[in-house]
Amino acid sequence: MRRDSCILLLLGLSSSSWAGVTVQLPGLAVPAQYASRRDDAEKLFTTSYAAYKEFAFGHDDLSPVSKGFSDGRNGWGASIVDALPTMAVMGLEDIFEEAVNFSSQIDFSKSQTSDTVSLFETTIRYVGGLLSAYELSDGKFPVLVTKAQEVADKMAFAWVGNNDVPYGFMDFSTNTPQRSTSNIAEAGTLSLEWFTLSKHTNNATYGNLTSRSVKRIASLASPLPGLAAQGIDPTTGNAVGSYVTWGGGSDSYFEYLVKYARLTNTNDPVFIDTWKTAVDSSIKTLLKTSTVGNHTYLADFDGTRIRHVGSHLACFYAGNWLLGGKLLQNQTIIDIALDLNEGCWNTYASTATGIGPEAFAFISSDGSFTGGSTPSAAQTAFYNQHGYYITSSAYILRPEVLESNFHAWRVTGDTKYLDRAASAIDSFNKFLPATVAFAGLNNVNSVNGGLIDDEESFWFAEVLKYLYLTFDDPAHISLDEWVFNTECQPFKAPPALDSYAGSGTLVKAKPFKVQSGVVPAFSPNAFLPARK
Ligand SMILES: *[C@@H]1O[C@H](CO)[C@@H](O)[C@H](O)[C@H]1NC(C)=O
Ligand SMILES: *[C@@H]1O[C@H](CO)[C@@H](O)[C@H](O)[C@H]1NC(C)=O
Ligand SMILES: *[C@@H]1O[C@H](CO)[C@@H](O)[C@H](O)[C@H]1NC(C)=O
Ligand SMILES: *[C@@H]1O[C@H](CO)[C@@H](O)[C@H](O)[C@H]1NC(C)=O
Ligand SMILES: *[C@@H]1O[C@H](CO)[C@@H](O)[C@H](O)[C@H]1NC(C)=O
Repeated sequence: MRRDSCILLLLGLSSSSWAGVTVQLPGLAVPAQYASRRDDAEKLFTTSYAAYKEFAFGHDDLSPVSKGFSDGRNGWGASIVDALPTMAVMGLEDIFEEAVNFSSQIDFSKSQTSDTVSLFETTIRYVGGLLSAYELSDGKFPVLVTKAQEVADKMAFAWVGNNDVPYGFMDFSTNTPQRSTSNIAEAGTLSLEWFTLSKHTNNATYGNLTSRSVKRIASLASPLPGLAAQGIDPTTGNAVGSYVTWGGGSDSYFEYLVKYARLTNTNDPVFIDTWKTAVDSSIKTLLKTSTVGNHTYLADFDGTRIRHVGSHLACFYAGNWLLGGKLLQNQTIIDIALDLNEGCWNTYASTATGIGPEAFAFISSDGSFTGGSTPSAAQTAFYNQHGYYITSSAYILRPEVLESNFHAWRVTGDTKYLDRAASAIDSFNKFLPATVAFAGLNNVNSVNGGLIDDEESFWFAEVLKYLYLTFDDPAHISLDEWVFNTECQPFKAPPALDSYAGSGTLVKAKPFKVQSGVVPAFSPNAFLPARK
């Protein structure tokens, strides 16, 4: 590969990733007629941030209807820290520096609210935002690493004794862990951020703690090969319940398996092997098409039965499978990822607002069981028209469908993905304006269903960054040079390897005893606005 890249250079061909596997379509450019769309995305951001500054500065979330604020992330100014990398990506230098100044003063020694501290939420937003901003500003602000280390040092108390798996929540005033049962998303979505912290602090402990937790989850017997049960007990390191989903509570554990392999270029095959096995087993057992419209989804499995449900959160899977399919050079995975992306986009394309719902369900040739109530007459009618029906109608400014759409654009170069992102911008401008800035919707299938008075930090960090990058020069924050954390915070990756094959074999399934009667730690279809 090295020699090939020299030849490329000699020929005068530029290539951002001249060695190893590539993810993006080489030579991709955004056609000129879409140029103004990048400005539209930036305007959504600057309008939202100006309102946040005026009415909520220093607090976690803006309340865009009542012009107030709320503090659901321990009151450390989540929107500021989470928005830092977006400001850097958009080149908004003044507010970036102001936000760096604010971040340098955060008191992470205690929660500013009465809440305990979530390892997961704090890692992806605060640690992720600070470290990504540090890298995006070329190391100009070392205080960003200092602050990330400060909050991580407190969270490190969540690993008790020799436990592999951390507790999910910490009481910062006493440095004691809280709650007994965690889930694999909480325990397995720390590795990218803490590895990056190790890199910038020269203290390997952070990366070690978090990769150990991932490896523990991967080593457990699981309901389906490679697909760990959702619940986990940090005290024993054992699985809790038998629920399998790519949705909330499990999602980003799977996401990080392949991203960790790419960010670290580790020679430990467990991350690729487990991801590949999870995907293989999902294709065999969870992959379903609807009886109406032939839309493709990944169902859930409750240990006994398939549940024909989907969610906005789970729709990250298309983008993740595209990334992994490219790294593993597996066209089967790429093709299925594109089908899944179509299924998720259909949940946007078919509503009255052009925006997709929080949760939905469908019917496939193997049945219609969801674990919940049977569809109403209105839901059945909607299903017969659109191939899915809405079970939770809100839109709370989540990114996942546009995240997958961004990956589909960068991987295939098909401009239909630019058209979709443009249509989402139009829907946002039409349906989300609140008293100030933009608000979520109670009902995506109604043009006057009312607004939700909260703008979570992921609107700044994810939705608007993915939209902006969709219309930006693909060489900027290329998927061949950066790995995004689950909050869309980019980390600088080393040059790609020639192959991400793992050991070349799937993980061998261990006998798993279905734990009937055990309630999963996390209810995947509940409306959970507090979660990412
Ligand atoms: C940030 O803080 C530095 C040092 O106190 C100050 O010089 C600078 O003007 C501040 N920048 C902004 C944008 O507030
Ligand atoms: C590395 O970080 C861990 C976790 O905070 C800490 O306990 C340890 O003392 C640090 N090691 C060094 C050499 O600073
Ligand atoms: C981190 O893990 C590596 C590999 O297992 C090990 O060699 C190293 O000693 C560990 N370092 C710390 C500080 O835990
Ligand atoms: C690609 O992935 C699919 C699904 O896991 C698998 O069946 C197939 O063997 C893989 N192809 C190669 C060449 O590894
Ligand atoms: C349904 O979609 C799948 C996946 O895209 C495709 O392979 C299949 O041919 C389609 N079936 C019909 C009846 O259109």
